[in-house]
Amino acid sequence: MKMKTNLKQMVPYKPGVLKEGALKLSSNENRLGPSPLAVKAAAESLAEVHIYPDGSCRRLRNALAEKHGMSPGNFVVGNGSDEIMTLIAATYIGEGDNAITAESTFSEYTFATILYAGEIRKTPMKEGTFDPDGILKLIDSRTKVIYFCNPNNPTGTYVSHEKLDSMLSRIPEDVLFVLDEAYADYSDADDFPDWKALLAKYANLMILRTFSKIYGMAAMRVGYAIAREEVIDQILVTKQPFNVNTPAQRAAEAALYDRAFYEKSREMNGEGKKYLYGELDKMGLKYYPTQANFICIHVKRDSKELFRTMMEKGITIRPLASFGLSEWIRITIGMEEDNKFLIRILEECLK
Ligand SMILES: Cc1ncc(COP(=O)(O)O)c(C=O)c1O
Repeated sequence: MKMKTNLKQMVPYKPGVLKEGALKLSSNENRLGPSPLAVKAAAESLAEVHIYPDGSCRRLRNALAEKHGMSPGNFVVGNGSDEIMTLIAATYIGEGDNAITAESTFSEYTFATILYAGEIRKTPMKEGTFDPDGILKLIDSRTKVIYFCNPNNPTGTYVSHEKLDSMLSRIPEDVLFVLDEAYADYSDADDFPDWKALLAKYANLMILRTFSKIYGMAAMRVGYAIAREEVIDQILVTKQPFNVNTPAQRAAEAALYDRAFYEKSREMNGEGKKYLYGELDKMGLKYYPTQANFICIHVKRDSKELFRTMMEKGITIRPLASFGLSEWIRITIGMEEDNKFLIRILEECLK
């Protein structure tokens, strides 16, 4: 059989190497575990799994609408926000079209674009940050989508509200601007973008959010998009009927109301970040100040080698060669004991 030509440049996704029993700080998960209310709701829903899930995620969309002060029609729920990225490409991108993103960012934007035979264009980062001017320069008449990760994975950097607003004002109205805010729940900068104000202004904006990070539900696979109703209606055309299972829908709804868990996660992250900054400063290592639950650190050596040594000592981190940052690692900010262990092992390995 002959594979479609656009797929020939792709290889199957390779999950990171893990070691049994090692502390996993490689995937930006929540070290506190899942929201307890989410676990309870998911468990209770197991008695209903002989029935197909609600394909419209009505209860969850109502809860999201209430939380964000929007209408349920402004939301589409996906099997992780990963799924929504492919729905976006399925809806807007075809052969000869292009999508734009940055060089060191989340790989799913590239995957989704190539999957639908589009061309992916990437602009270099500026000090680890998305460069709005670089992106604007790449737009042409076949540009359909811009994928903008804020805070950016893997650097943790962000672009301010003012800069994003100015950029959006210069983007053609028929180009969808996807603002991926997977980590925005952790942000603490005063000038972090206010997506609601931007959505009121720009009809071509879509925001992506996930339950995988601050709500601790990565294995449940729930993410969502927020956009004007006419945009959501277009995306719905490409969605599978039963994309989000019932336990995941119930867990996400319960997690939204678990304020205590949300605040505890934010607080743990803030404290961990402060501790890690202090220790990294003492070690003389450069890092990007982060708005997320991870830190991108310059280790001044081959990070794949460091990854292997750290794993032998019981810790898994993410080397960033595949992001074009071969001397950098990304570590998840964890609980106090995780962070202390991380620093101890990092010091040992960098000696
Ligand atoms: C920037 C970014 N967006 C989206 C996702 C995927 O989220 P989900 O688990 O909802 O598919 C990730 C996962 O790591 C991510 O880093």
